[in-house]
Amino acid sequence: MRTPIIAGNWKMNNNPEATTQFVNAVKDHLPASDQVEAVIAAPAVDLPALLAAAQGSNLKTAAENCYFENSGAFTGETSPQVLQEMGINYVVIGHSERRDYFHETDADVNRKAQAVFANQMIPIICCGESLAKREAGEAQTWVQSQVTAALKDLSADQVSQLVIAYEPIWAIGTGKTATADQAQEICQVIRQTVEKLYDKTVADQVRIQYGGSVKPANIKELMSKPDIDGGLVGGASLDPDSYLQLVNYQ
Ligand code: G3P
Repeated sequence: MRTPIIAGNWKMNNNPEATTQFVNAVKDHLPASDQVEAVIAAPAVDLPALLAAAQGSNLKTAAENCYFENSGAFTGETSPQVLQEMGINYVVIGHSERRDYFHETDADVNRKAQAVFANQMIPIICCGESLAKREAGEAQTWVQSQVTAALKDLSADQVSQLVIAYEPIWAIGTGKTATADQAQEICQVIRQTVEKLYDKTVADQVRIQYGGSVKPANIKELMSKPDIDGGLVGGASLDPDSYLQLVNYQ
């Protein structure tokens, strides 16, 4: 059985003080991590505060990005090795904002996924189509090709541990959620893609999140779908009460 995983993606919001306050407000009210994994992905500058406040609680931690080299002359980048040394659990890779605004390619996403595994963390690999691709009827093939490229050269064991987040770009921060059936349709395609590339055992283990205007009012219905194992939540993860409602959706 796959353990549900609900992750807040704070994007470029909150400072260290707000991070500490948030974690202090939620940490004693989180579900047991074998029931639902509760994760916060915070900006790199907030990670020390996140880790310090989350210590001893059920809250898992994530970075929102990292580089594919561990050290060297890469001004402004974040080392996956250092994230691992700090105690970070997950790294979000290939968010559509990284792809659109910072020109990350499928090949970059794959290199980053490999670097995250090389440093004993788990990638949360994002994929998802634009409105234009959806309207052209290309959502499935687009997502299939993103997933195939992201998983290149990863072992079956690695893929069975990772998380894939399906985030249709047209539903991010727009208030426009994909219907639970639309989300399920593509999450099923993602699982079938993993099965084609690996096998059914791996496909049954990989966890797939939906992201895009997830909120307390729609989390239950989304999570009732057979191929949706979690949510990657932006706006609604910034408020402690709303975050707690999401992770305690059961
Ligand atoms: O990664 C989360 C995301 O892009 C969705 O953001 O604000 O629509 O929940 P939001």
